Amino acid sequence: MYTARQLDRARQLAYLHSGIVLGSNKDIMIANRLDKLKRLVENDEIDAVLNAIEAGQEIELFISAFTTNKTNFFRESFHFEDLKDRVVKEAIENRSGLKIYCSASSTGEEPYSILMTLEYAKALYGALNINYSLLATDIDLQVLDKCQKGVYEYTKVGDDIPDWIKPSEYFKRRIHPEKNGEFLVKIKDHLQRKVQFQQFNLMTPTYPFKSCDFDVVFCRNVLIYFNQDDQNAILKKLFKTLRIGGTLYLGHSESPLGLTPYVERCGQNIFIKTKEFL
Ligand SMILES: C[S@@+](CC[C@H](N)C(=O)[O-])C[C@H]1O[C@@H](n2cnc3c(N)ncnc32)[C@H](O)[C@@H]1O
Repeated sequence: MYTARQLDRARQLAYLHSGIVLGSNKDIMIANRLDKLKRLVENDEIDAVLNAIEAGQEIELFISAFTTNKTNFFRESFHFEDLKDRVVKEAIENRSGLKIYCSASSTGEEPYSILMTLEYAKALYGALNINYSLLATDIDLQVLDKCQKGVYEYTKVGDDIPDWIKPSEYFKRRIHPEKNGEFLVKIKDHLQRKVQFQQFNLMTPTYPFKSCDFDVVFCRNVLIYFNQDDQNAILKKLFKTLRIGGTLYLGHSESPLGLTPYVERCGQNIFIKTKEFL
């Protein structure tokens, strides 16, 4: 077990390095994360581990231990329906390309679901030469590594993929070397090359992205980890990067907060930017 002081040190470090708020009701979760951290740094002495992190060492492992990376393919599938039925369709009608930013990509299921949707919609509308770019970022280097590998267990993929997606068009099959009968799938290389993965902390004071540049921003199931002031600050910085008329997708229990007067709601947690934030 950990002392109240150790839990508090971890709580403060989590906020400092990621903005993640772990309230007083999260002691069990913090304890589990500290267990994970000790395994990651291969040191069982928690005070020594916390001292090292406070001294600026092992920060990446600390972040990996303290982030919640739960995700799945086509999570909140209505967002992908909207992307296919409205956003891509409009881009094709306007003969414009699409720049998409996925701001908390976790292990890759979300950006690859976006990618499959774009590829599917291009074929559906006969617009194979429409250009798009897809930037996916996360603070956690371990999940980004998984994104870059693009390898997933078939059973999980199969459960989440909607009827209109044919997995064999996007994944190649690999037999799992250890588990008999179970196999893995890997995103096809030519598709994987279309996503750019980068580490980025949403708490960064000034974002390195151009203003009004993205047509679509996904910011789903990450704001919930921050306090309300930080959520507002992040939303404003993300909003600045979105063009007027662009679409912001938020997670099921997130809201646009201070951006509400500057957006029009067009579906479940789907918001269109109507004017610049002043
Ligand atoms: C629960 S997952 C959500 C993944 C995906 N967006 C989805 O909806 O399925 C939250 C992700 O946010 C990332 N995250 C947490 N704090 C972050 C921060 N300050 N900057 C960027 N990403 C962060 C975590 O590493 C994690 O992968």
